[in-house]
Amino acid sequence: MLSGKKILIGVTGSIAAYKTPLLVRQLVKEGAEVKVVATPAALDFVSRLTLSTLSGSPVLTDLFTEGSWANHVALGRWADVFLVAPLSCNSLSKMASGQCDNLFLTTYLSASCPVIVAPAMDDDMWQHDATKKNLEVLSTYGNHIINAEWGELASGLIGFGRMAEPETIVAYVTDFLAKRAQLSGKKALVTAGPTYEPLDPVRFIGNHSSGKMGFALANELSSRGAKVVLVSGPVTVQNIQKRVEVVNVTTAQEMFEACSQHVDYDIAVMAAAVADYSPVEVAEQKIKKRADEVEIKLKKTVDILGTFGTKKKPHQVLVGFALETENENQNAAQKLAKKGADMMVLNSLQNNKAGFGKDTNQVTVFYKNGFIKEFEAKPKTDVAKDIVDLISEMLP
Ligand code: CTP
Repeated sequence: MLSGKKILIGVTGSIAAYKTPLLVRQLVKEGAEVKVVATPAALDFVSRLTLSTLSGSPVLTDLFTEGSWANHVALGRWADVFLVAPLSCNSLSKMASGQCDNLFLTTYLSASCPVIVAPAMDDDMWQHDATKKNLEVLSTYGNHIINAEWGELASGLIGFGRMAEPETIVAYVTDFLAKRAQLSGKKALVTAGPTYEPLDPVRFIGNHSSGKMGFALANELSSRGAKVVLVSGPVTVQNIQKRVEVVNVTTAQEMFEACSQHVDYDIAVMAAAVADYSPVEVAEQKIKKRADEVEIKLKKTVDILGTFGTKKKPHQVLVGFALETENENQNAAQKLAKKGADMMVLNSLQNNKAGFGKDTNQVTVFYKNGFIKEFEAKPKTDVAKDIVDLISEMLP
């Protein structure tokens, strides 16, 4: 299953490192080529000889040996995936803050391949806010986390913090690499977030879109190997994979112009909440408070999805989003036809687990042929998986 895959294993100082030889053996058995980079503390828990014998390659630990420099950049470029197992609390913290005082950390900072980490620590450390924050930071770097499991710990306590078992990690990596091949060679365009239409230098017309759904979709498409361009309106979320090209825009017109550079897409998902109208005139100076009532003249913005719909080629899959507050199904189906999309994803505002800024969403998908598929409320990252599954089925 892993034949021809190059896996770089990072080992850090945790008692769970005693399981890393089993992991290495399993990966090699599955056909992977494995190299190991270890922190000095890791070798207190597992022997260099065991790891080098099982991987068939010397264990790398030092930035410099006898006057020669270990090329950490080449190491991160060699690998298809950098798998850190176990990841100790200390190395996690160093990775989150960008420290690089050993070969493992310099390799991490320069790795251009995807990074998967399997943390291992005691329950109290696992539950600590600092650990949660550091793991979140790693997520924002686009790293993938195999959550620690519940069970017996080195302290004798029972709780969370056990590194996932080697079989679980091997299954995760196998699935990860298989998925990465799924959309390889495909170009994807995703829009996300709101647009801001300026009234004057300090004010704008905008909306509450957080961009989370669009970012999750961009990440999922990228995880499956697509080359992704994400055109994003003003958002605060930053959880995006390194491989995704992000184009930041402010207005609907800028979003349209940025998207127009990518009409050769295979997959386009327009998840942005684009303003439908923008002020006809933008005041050069801040508008002063004078009259009791003011009228602002607005003009229609360009419909990005609609424009893409008129130019869509048969091999391209075009997906839109619809947010409705009434006659949801009817409006979503009409929007699908009007905009010439292949699929329309309806966000429900009726469900309290869906909507602006939330981490969960509940969607119903409408197809051109009238077929409708309804999903449960779930985290936006899982909604993104469902939508990308459906897109993959539609690709020629
Ligand atoms: N959309 C777009 N360009 C616009 C407006 C909307 O590309 N100027 C896209 C959105 O990204 C979304 C879909 O069209 O994928 C539907 O957006 P929505 O705001 O629900 O639809 P509208 O056409 O604006 O219709 P209405 O606001 O009247 O419901």
